[in-house]
Amino acid sequence: MTVVDMHTHFIPKQWPDLAKKFSTPNWPWMRHTEAGKAMIMLGQDEYRPVYQALWDPSIRLEEMDRDGVDIQIMSATPILFNYERPAAQAIECAELFNDLALELCQYKPNRLKALAQVPLQDIDASCKEASRAMSNGHLGVQIGNHVGSKNLDDEGIVTFLQHCAADNIPVLVHPWDMLGRERMSKYMMQWLVAMPAETHLSIMSLILSGAFERISTDLKLCFAHGGGSFAYLMGRVDNAWRHRDIVREDCPNLPSSYLSRFSVDSAVFSADALALLINVMGEDKVLLGSDSPFPLGEQKVGKLVREQSLSELGRERILGGNAIDFFNI
Ligand code: CO
Repeated sequence: MTVVDMHTHFIPKQWPDLAKKFSTPNWPWMRHTEAGKAMIMLGQDEYRPVYQALWDPSIRLEEMDRDGVDIQIMSATPILFNYERPAAQAIECAELFNDLALELCQYKPNRLKALAQVPLQDIDASCKEASRAMSNGHLGVQIGNHVGSKNLDDEGIVTFLQHCAADNIPVLVHPWDMLGRERMSKYMMQWLVAMPAETHLSIMSLILSGAFERISTDLKLCFAHGGGSFAYLMGRVDNAWRHRDIVREDCPNLPSSYLSRFSVDSAVFSADALALLINVMGEDKVLLGSDSPFPLGEQKVGKLVREQSLSELGRERILGGNAIDFFNI
């Protein structure tokens, strides 16, 4: 059995000074503090303390061996997306970080794989960069779950998703730029409360807008963090659809009937939550994803799935088989 961790992050050890290059403030950069440790900086503000596994492939492989992971698929950390900046700058950053990701993978190409980022504020450029990245060796793309006030049902984003469906480019949707920030300044509330809501909102925006009626069933779409809070609330949505016409307005079929159109990762950190998720989605639609090497990721990758009460076939599917199919490995 091949074990695949499909939700991990990287940040290159360093890159050119973007603030200087574009003459605008608050760009991400890395302040290396002591051996093996660094602080992700946004301009002069400290964003997150991180350690070597984020940029050093030898450490990644050590941790993969420790945890019994054969293949790791890494994506950029969402603060590198730059959707709020001028498109030309985001295009340049996408190319820069996508190429640096493949350099990381070169250390052990059969075990380290990458998803590309795209400048999602510019749909034509996103389609172009996604296809360029795929031809260079990326396994798919990771996109943020919204662009400013545009949800995933935005016409442009749907066009991008259709491009991905047509070109067999798997898509991982990662929450970012969280709502309600002014009420969530402490205790990582943005990550604990708003992030799962962001993903829930994205799934609902595709279902209730009828976007899934317009997007090819060929699209391979996966949501991070078990889809956020959606699995627990699917019954609430179906009930609302049955009893309020404004919920049914653009969605011709029962909302839960669209669950077959996407997958989710397993990063839910609770056996009860994973059991519910597998029950809602099915064993073929849940993929091992750890969100490592961050503190909010699974610290021993795969432990939750390995210890879950599952058929052996189901466990193998979730630990690797589903990802191998999804990402055409
Ligand atoms: Co993540």
